[in-house]
Amino acid sequence: MKKIFSTLLATLFVAGSVAASSTIDLGEGNLKYKDMPQYQSYLKNKDNTQMTEYGGSVPYDKHDGVNPLPKGYKHAQPYLKNLWLGYPFSYEYKRAQGHTQAIEDVTHIDRINRYSEQAGLPATCWNCKTTTIPTLVEKFGDKFWSSNFHDYREAHEGSKHAIGCANCHDEKTFALAITSFPLDEALKRQGKDWRKASKQEMRSLVCAQCHVEYYFETKDHGVAAKPHLPWDKGMNPADMYEFYSNGDPKRDAFKGAFTDFTHAASKTKIIKAQHPEYEMFSDGVHGAAGVSCSDCHMPRDKNGMSSHHWTSPLKSTESIQASCVSCHKDKTPEYLKGRVEFHQEKAWKQLNIAQEKSVRAHEAVRLAMEFKGVDEKLLAEAREMTRKGQWFWDYVSAENSAGFHNPTKTLDTLASSQQYSDQAVQLAMQATGYAIAPKLEGPIEKIVPPIMEHSRKLQQDQKHLDSHVWLKYLPVLPQADLVWDKNKKLK
Ligand code: HEC
Ligand code: HEC
Ligand code: HEC
Ligand code: HEC
Repeated sequence: MKKIFSTLLATLFVAGSVAASSTIDLGEGNLKYKDMPQYQSYLKNKDNTQMTEYGGSVPYDKHDGVNPLPKGYKHAQPYLKNLWLGYPFSYEYKRAQGHTQAIEDVTHIDRINRYSEQAGLPATCWNCKTTTIPTLVEKFGDKFWSSNFHDYREAHEGSKHAIGCANCHDEKTFALAITSFPLDEALKRQGKDWRKASKQEMRSLVCAQCHVEYYFETKDHGVAAKPHLPWDKGMNPADMYEFYSNGDPKRDAFKGAFTDFTHAASKTKIIKAQHPEYEMFSDGVHGAAGVSCSDCHMPRDKNGMSSHHWTSPLKSTESIQASCVSCHKDKTPEYLKGRVEFHQEKAWKQLNIAQEKSVRAHEAVRLAMEFKGVDEKLLAEAREMTRKGQWFWDYVSAENSAGFHNPTKTLDTLASSQQYSDQAVQLAMQATGYAIAPKLEGPIEKIVPPIMEHSRKLQQDQKHLDSHVWLKYLPVLPQADLVWDKNKKLK
C-alpha cells in the first residue's frame, strides 16, 4: 500500500534525509530588518479578512461555491478535485494570502503528507515560501531539492523566515536582486543576465522568481526535483505545451513528454499549471507597454516609499487611487474597478465552461477505456486532447488575476481549451463506434457530479472512495494519524 502511495511522485525524485532539522540554524531572517519602515508595510500582508469581487486574501477552498466565507466563496470552480484526481492538489487547494503567511500555509496544507515520516513531496516546495533557499542549497548542495520536505519544518518559524526582504534585495546594498535559482538559470538560457536588466524590468523580475509556471527536473537527466522554468520555446500556453511534449534531456532535464501526474479516472497524463502571472502579464496591454508588477502592486506613498503590502489593488478607493490613477489620471477609481470586473466576469464565465468541458473529456475517455473493443489509437488521441484541453484551462485557472493581467490571451486560451476538450470527447466516442455517446448526453453535473469532499484522511476510508464513480479508481490509504502539525512533530 505504501508503494502505491509513494509512486505518486516517485518518478520525479528520491527522498533522502539530509539532516535533523533541529541542527539547521537559519538565523534571524526578516526580523533583522524590523526597524526599517518597509517592514511595517510588510506586516500588513498578514491581513486576510477581505475579498474583492474575484480576488482578495481570504483562504477559502477554491472549489467550494456553496459555503460562505471563510470556507467557500461565490466565485468557485466546483470541479477542481475532479480534474486533479490522483494528485495532491485534489486534497486541498486554497486562495492565496499574503507573503507573511507562506510558511504557515505550506506547513499546514494537506497536499504535503503530514500523516507520514515521508512528505511525499520534495523539499523543493520550500522554494517560493522562504528567504532561506540560498542558505539551504549552500549547506546541502543539490541534494537539498529532492530531500524530505519534513526535514526543514522545525527550522522554519512562521513569519521570521516567510517570503521577505532577502528574496528581492541584496542584503548589503538593498538593490533589487534575483535570488531564485530557476529564474536566474532560465534567463541565462535566454542569454540574459538580470544584473544588466533595467530597474523597470527588475520591478517585475523580482516577482517572476515565484509567480511563474515551473516543473521539477528528473533524476535521470538533471538534478532530482530541482525547479525549472519551461520558457525555452516561449511563455504562451501553446509554446509551453510544445516544450512539455518533447523534452531535450540535456537542456530541459527531462526526456519525451512531461507528466506531473496520471489522472486517476481517465489515465490521462496531465501537466499541472502553477500561477503563471508573469507569463500571462508579459504580452498583455500593461506588460507590453512596459508597466511593471510593482507599478500596480507596490505603489509609492507620498514620501516615495514603496508599499510592501502585496495584495489586490482593488480593496479600497484609496488603493485604486494609488495603484492605478497614478497613470490613469483622467479616470475615477470606480470606473477603473468597473473595467477590471468587466474583464473578469467574461473570463470567469468561459473559465467555468472550459472546466466543465475538461471534465466531460475525462469522462468520455474513462468510458471509452472501459469499453470492450475500443480503438486504442483513437483512445490515445482522445487522451492527448484531454491533456491539452486541461493544460490550456489550467494556465488561466492557476493564474491569479481572473483574466485582468491579459484579457485577450485569457479568452483565447480558454477558447482553445474548449476546442481541445470537445475534440477529446469526439475522439473517445469515435473510438467506441459511438456506443458511449448516450452516456455523455445532458448536463455535466448529472453525468459526473463535482467531488466536494476529499482529503488524505478521507482517502483512508473505503466508504468515501465508494461514494463517487471517479473516487473508486483511487487506492485506499493505510490508516494513520497526523505526524506533523505545522512545524511541530506530534510523536
Ligand atoms: C517581493 C519582492 C520584495 C520583497 C520581499 C521586499 N522588497 Fe523592498 N522593494 C521591492 C521593490 C520592487 C522595490 C522598488 C524598487 C525601486 O523601484 O527602486 C523595493 C524597494 C525597497 C526599498 C527602497 C525604498 C522604497 O521604498 O522604494 C527599501 C529600503 C526596501 N524595499 C526594503 C525592504 C525591506 C526592509 C523588506 C523586508 C521587510 C523588503 N524590502 C522586501 C521588492 C521587494
Ligand atoms: C519568494 C517567492 C515570491 C516572490 C518573490 C513574490 N511572491 Fe507573491 N506570493 C508568493 C506566495 C507563495 C504567495 C501565497 C502565500 C500564501 O497564500 O501563503 C504569494 C501571494 C501574492 C499575492 C496575493 C496576496 C493576497 O493578499 O492575497 C500577491 C498580490 C502577490 N503575491 C504579488 C507579488 C508581487 C507583485 C511580487 C513582486 C514584487 C511578488 N508577489 C513576489 C510568492 C512570492
Ligand atoms: C495594471 C496593473 C497590474 C499589473 C501590471 C499587474 N497586476 Fe496583478 N493584479 C492587478 C489587478 C487589478 C488584479 C485583480 C485583483 C482582484 O481581482 O481583486 C491583480 C491580481 C493579482 C494577483 C491575485 C491577487 C488576489 O487578490 O488574489 C496576483 C498574485 C498578482 N496580481 C500578481 C501580479 C504579478 C506577479 C504581476 C507581474 C508579473 C502583476 N500582478 C502585474 C493589477 C496588476
Ligand atoms: C505605470 C502606468 C500604469 C499603471 C500604474 C496602470 N496602468 Fe492601466 N494602462 C496603462 C497603459 C500604458 C495602458 C495602455 C493604454 C494604451 O496603450 O492606450 C493601460 C490600459 C489600461 C486599460 C485598458 C485596457 C484594458 O485592458 O482594458 C485598463 C482597463 C487599465 N489600464 C486599468 C488599469 C488598472 C485597473 C490599474 C491599477 C490596478 C492600472 N491600469 C494601472 C498604464 C498603467
